[in-house]
Amino acid sequence: YLKSMAKNPVRVLVTGAAGQIGYALVPMIARGVMLGPDQPVILHMLDIPPAAEALNGVKMELVDAAFPLLKGVVATTDVVEACTGVSVAVMVGGFPRKEGMERKDVMTKNVSIYKSQASALEKHAAANCKVLVVANPANTNALILKEYAPSIPEKNITCLTRLDHNRALGQISERLNIQVSDVKNVIIWGNHSSSQYPDVNHATVKTPSGEKPVKELVGDEAWLHGEFIATVQQRGAAIIKARKLSSALSAASSACDHIRDWVLGTPQGTWVSMGVYSDGSYKVPAGLIYSFPVTCQNGEWKIVQGLSIDEFSRKKLDLTAEELSEEKALAYSCLS
Ligand code: NAD
Ligand code: LMR
Repeated sequence: YLKSMAKNPVRVLVTGAAGQIGYALVPMIARGVMLGPDQPVILHMLDIPPAAEALNGVKMELVDAAFPLLKGVVATTDVVEACTGVSVAVMVGGFPRKEGMERKDVMTKNVSIYKSQASALEKHAAANCKVLVVANPANTNALILKEYAPSIPEKNITCLTRLDHNRALGQISERLNIQVSDVKNVIIWGNHSSSQYPDVNHATVKTPSGEKPVKELVGDEAWLHGEFIATVQQRGAAIIKARKLSSALSAASSACDHIRDWVLGTPQGTWVSMGVYSDGSYKVPAGLIYSFPVTCQNGEWKIVQGLSIDEFSRKKLDLTAEELSEEKALAYSCLS
């Protein structure tokens, strides 16, 4: 208690806060799931005028829930007010994919939103604000945000592939009938789309006799190269089919994981997947927002270097990079 009294509240922006991810995400942030159980927060919630009444309803519920860590709520349709003084920005606002739509279909609608919100963030957010883009196409929206907010350091702009990472952990744990918390170091490479490459070549499982490679324990390369990859790649679509809505509680939870690990650090010997600005590591073209394995320390992420990439993986890394280059070109054509 005394510790939390000593900490100044952190302002956290959630755009699209009246939407379904927003509704799952804001109570998690207010409970300390994102920034820790001793970190007070002030929530900034942005949505568009047609959703203003619903947004106000969410604000009423946040007040009603009497979260001890929640020191204030700003609910607004004014992007400047929303961005002012925020140290963490979770960009969820946008148009979601519906059944039968590919992510490219939502491109035009979303890239123009990210272009205009980029300028508001760079002008009004706190220095060193950390940005996580959730809205699809997540990697390309993040890239547009980066390009139109040149004064925000590029290392501060990321996109969410932690949901895919967690999905991969979940599939391995189901297959081996083990605790999900005993599996680690899967990797999501590339785009948060069906071209992503979920890679378990370096993943391990904690067993009573030490850490064992996932590959060895599964012992079925055909499943790992086939059904496993396809299930993770298609999971977003499977949720949309089942719920008639895109994933929300798992997206919100993974967004908290992403920011928490970024700010508070990854455990020793563990990496996570984050969509970050490529520096050319693993021969991924520089200048894309691409998902890599990263470790985090002192509020900074670092791409894990030196992992071996076999021929099967190489092709998959290149394929998803190609899709991202195409998306980048398409995004620019939508903006011009
Ligand atoms: P939703 O439609 O329920 O909510 C989106 C909200 O954004 C709505 O309230 C809408 O009014 C608001 N919005 C629209 N334009 C806005 C703008 N210019 N500024 C602020 N708010 C705006 O959608 P959802 O299910 O919450 O999903 C949100 C986004 O997240 C979608 O793009 C979805 O595809 C994406 N998504 C990403 C992941 C991931 O892992 N990266 C996972 C799930 C969903
Ligand atoms: C997801 O992965 O659940 C979301 O990105 C929804 C989608 O469009 O697939």
